[in-house]
Amino acid sequence: RQHTPLRIDVDAEQRVKLSSNPEHAPRQWPLDPYSTPSQHYATLQRWAASGDIEELLNTLKSAGLRGMGGAGFPTGVKWEACRAADRAVRAVICNADESEPGTFKDRVILAELPHLVIEGMLLAAWVTGAREGIIYLRHEYEPERERLEAALREARDRGLLGPGHPTGFDIRVFVSPGGYILGEETALLEALEDRRGEPRNKPPFPVSRGLGGEPTLINNVETLAACVGILHHGADWWREQGRGQAAGLKLLAVSGDVERPDVYCVPMGTTARELLALAGGVQGGKPLLAFFPGGASTNPLPAGRLDTPMDWDSLREAGSALGSGAVTFVAEGRDLLDLVLAQTRFFRNESCGKCVPCRVGTQKAVALVESAIAGDPVDGLPELLRQLNGTLARTSICGLGQVALAPLVALMQHFPQQHWQALATGEAG
Ligand code: NAI
Ligand code: SF4
Repeated sequence: RQHTPLRIDVDAEQRVKLSSNPEHAPRQWPLDPYSTPSQHYATLQRWAASGDIEELLNTLKSAGLRGMGGAGFPTGVKWEACRAADRAVRAVICNADESEPGTFKDRVILAELPHLVIEGMLLAAWVTGAREGIIYLRHEYEPERERLEAALREARDRGLLGPGHPTGFDIRVFVSPGGYILGEETALLEALEDRRGEPRNKPPFPVSRGLGGEPTLINNVETLAACVGILHHGADWWREQGRGQAAGLKLLAVSGDVERPDVYCVPMGTTARELLALAGGVQGGKPLLAFFPGGASTNPLPAGRLDTPMDWDSLREAGSALGSGAVTFVAEGRDLLDLVLAQTRFFRNESCGKCVPCRVGTQKAVALVESAIAGDPVDGLPELLRQLNGTLARTSICGLGQVALAPLVALMQHFPQQHWQALATGEAG
């Protein structure tokens, strides 16, 4: 078989460049409403002075902000549900454990806009009355941890956190013990409670039963940062940033076969073609084969779908998803089956093993595809994979198992047979 492996991530060297290259940092992000550091926290102070929590919630809801971790749940609705919980709210947690292969947008926000994330958490704490704040950080993000700790010290010095805060509210950084599944919000809670990091059944959702069984608000880094701009400029501003029916701005981590892998902030609804052009086009001017619009757990789309707007609804209609904002472009000449199989192995390896269908099904799928590639396919393998995918989607308790096999099935739906032929015939793809 043709074998040209593709890293669906920026490599370590590129990451260092993203964090330290003067061409990249600091940049003025459209997400950031402030032009100087002295203006930080002005939005929080204005809303706190107004005391109008209902109006704040209405602003978030009418802006149409949705959770940027990948699921797109309406942020205003989540804040409101947490505030309305039947007992006192324990914590506001910033989920900074992005681990989807190819995802590195939150890392850039943490490094370049840490005060925006802290201000978003302070606004959330004010709305919900949370007692504590936690930034749950991916364990490899050491440079970002240092940047965050420095920003937290600055906020304390300004009397915004800790002893200077009216309720003593403070934020601590908790470094994740490590592992993809620990970014799933309920596995994250287990880890914080010093237990094995396995997802819980939902519902109840964390807004009603979270950390220590108490209501807890958990938001993604980008979501919290975006709240500040919305609450500064207003809901109309956010909606106007998007294209067509899509609202707002989106940070997308672009990687794969492109000239300039990086994080780009674009209007929601920007087409994949425009994004590819922003990233300098396909490396070496090759033709494009496919792209993954939202991370390894989203279905690949063929190059013919490049005019799809990158927004929640358009990508769902196209048979994929915006997901975690990790866009990977794949040039002609790559072995798509090999790439998707590598992703499936990743999910198999990262499955926590709590649900039998996920634990056994991912292993089974990998073994079946590997033996087909080795020239020994079982009869009716494509249909078998479809059925296995359906079982995992229905019976797994968290997103990992629910989507682990979907890209394999999408490969058979969206791509010419030569990219998955080995599954059926054992012949070279
Ligand atoms: P989910 O749909 O179960 O929940 C999304 C959010 O909405 C959660 O915070 C949940 O608590 C909340 N929620 C849902 N229904 C609610 C209700 N009725 N009341 C109050 N709150 C409610 O999705 P999940 O499993 O949290 O996330 C899945 C997504 O995560 C996937 O779409 C994937 O794209 C993304 N993901 C991102 C990764 C990353 O590195 N950023 C890694 C892996 C997955
Ligand atoms: Fe664990 Fe997989 Fe079940 Fe998620 S679906 S809880 S990763 S076994």
